[in-house]
This record gives sequence, structure tokens and C-alpha cells, in this order.
Amino acid sequence: MTDWQEWHGHYDDRGSSLSRRLSVVQQRLDELVSGEVSVRRILSLCAGDGRDILPVLTRHPDEQRPEVALVELDPALAAAAERRAADAGVAATVVVGDAGLATTWQGTVPVDLLMLCGIFGNISEADIRNTIDAACAMLQPGGSVLWTRGYFTHEDLRPQIRQWFSVAGFTESSFDSEPTGYGVGVHRLTSKTCAATVPARLFSFIRFCQLCSSLRRGADGGGPCSDYLLKLFSPFLVHRRFGPPYTRRQLATRQAAQISCYATENGTIRL
Ligand SMILES: C[S@@+](CC[C@H](N)C(=O)[O-])C[C@H]1O[C@@H](n2cnc3c(N)ncnc32)[C@H](O)[C@@H]1O
Repeated sequence: MTDWQEWHGHYDDRGSSLSRRLSVVQQRLDELVSGEVSVRRILSLCAGDGRDILPVLTRHPDEQRPEVALVELDPALAAAAERRAADAGVAATVVVGDAGLATTWQGTVPVDLLMLCGIFGNISEADIRNTIDAACAMLQPGGSVLWTRGYFTHEDLRPQIRQWFSVAGFTESSFDSEPTGYGVGVHRLTSKTCAATVPARLFSFIRFCQLCSSLRRGADGGGPCSDYLLKLFSPFLVHRRFGPPYTRRQLATRQAAQISCYATENGTIRL
């Protein structure tokens, strides 16, 4: 499992692509809140400790500040978001729960801005598509989605994601990226009608490592990773999103049952 508290520590490295991504997200959010289209309500899914939103809202006078709902699964990060909101004097509702489940945030939509930062790199392509399709029903007419997705060495899904937004009735307001780093998009809902309904589950996080590109899809398409699989593949193929690849020793000491394998459509295995 990813340690999301440790993951937030990478923001402390001012030279990291993640830190540069944060600046872009904050800048785009600031523009949206100051823009001509009024942003009265924001929902952030998988919000972490809220550092992308809360410092930006403090720059705006009370009467311009939108209502904010943050959904975060990790209670410690949710508590950090609550503290940050209190310190910043921003009224925010922090919900501890599974953001992939519609029942967790149903009472807060429709919103003017949906923040999906740090999600698309951790869920399957099918779930990214699900979420984009459902976003239309979660937004007010003319509302926007602010999303992120980084470049991965084995694939660059960013062009495809931009295309999916376009097919779902969105127009791109901006897309900022580094060639092999972050990607930050803002898409505005411009189609007049929204036929989408929100499914009970939008997405589930999956552990994101590439093991092997030639392995065939398993009969059940997922399940606990066997020791055999962990031993079979070179640790140099087992990538983490941050930091060096897992070493053989690290893999050997991880309990296989704690790691789920997912076979994807193109036959790659993700941990
Ligand atoms: C990559 S971080 C992004 C955090 C924040 N949005 C940002 O960009 O700084 C992903 C966050 O999603 C949270 N998370 C993972 N699964 C979740 C779920 N099912 N529901 C809500 N939050 C979840 C993690 O605890 C983590 O804080």
C-alpha cells in the first residue's frame, strides 16, 4: 500500500515536479475563483491535506470564498486538512471516507468546481473514463474540473484523458505540463445537456507498479499477488511513482498478500 502521508512529504522538495505541479494547480484554482464565472461550491476528491486549495482561498475575501468540501480516506491527512482550514480561517467541510463511492459526497453536488488531483495516476483507465463521464452530472452547467495526471515511463495517458474530456462534453480551458513530469488540466463543461448518471462507484485506487508487459491476463483478472510472481520478475521492472524501483530485498520482505495484482486490458500487471 502507498503511504500517503509519506507521499505528501515529497512536496517538501521544492525542486520536485510535484512541487511545481502544486504551484500550477494553485494558480489555476486562483484564476477560476477570481474569474468571471462564479465558483460558489468546490468538491475535492482524494483531497489529501488540502494544501492545494486552502492557501489559495485565504487570498480571497470572505464574500468571494466558495464553500469547500474535501473528501479524504486517511484520517490523519483529513485531520491535517481540518487544521489547515482552521489556521487559514477557511470554512471547509472535511469528510473522511471513500471518494470512489458516490454515497460519500452525493449531498455536496452539483458543484462549480470538481478537483480531481492525484487520482488519475492511481486508478485504472476504465475508472478514469467512468469518472470523466460522471463529472458532467456532478457539476453545475458551465462548471469545471481541475485534474492532474503525470507522465509515466511506460505510458503517457495525458493526451487520451484530454480527448475523453472532449468526448464527454468539456472544452479545455488550459493544460499545463512538463514533458516527462506533471500534467494539470482544466476542463469546462460546455455541452448543453448532460445525460450522464453517476454510478454507485466511480473508481478504486490500485497500486501502481509495472511488472511485466508480456504477462497474459489472469483468469480472474486480479487478486492477491503470489510469491511466485514476486520472485519471477526482476525488481528493476517494479517501479514506484516516486523513489527508486523496489529492490529484490524489499519485495521479498513484503507480504505477498498485502499486495494486490491487477491484470489490465493490455496484459500488464500492476501492483
Ligand atoms: C496522490 S494523493 C493526492 C492528494 C491531493 N489531492 C494532492 O494532490 O495533493 C492521493 C490521496 O488520495 C487519498 N485516497 C486514496 N484512496 C482514497 C479513496 N478511496 N477515497 C478518498 N481518498 C483516497 C490518499 O490518502 C491520498 O491523500
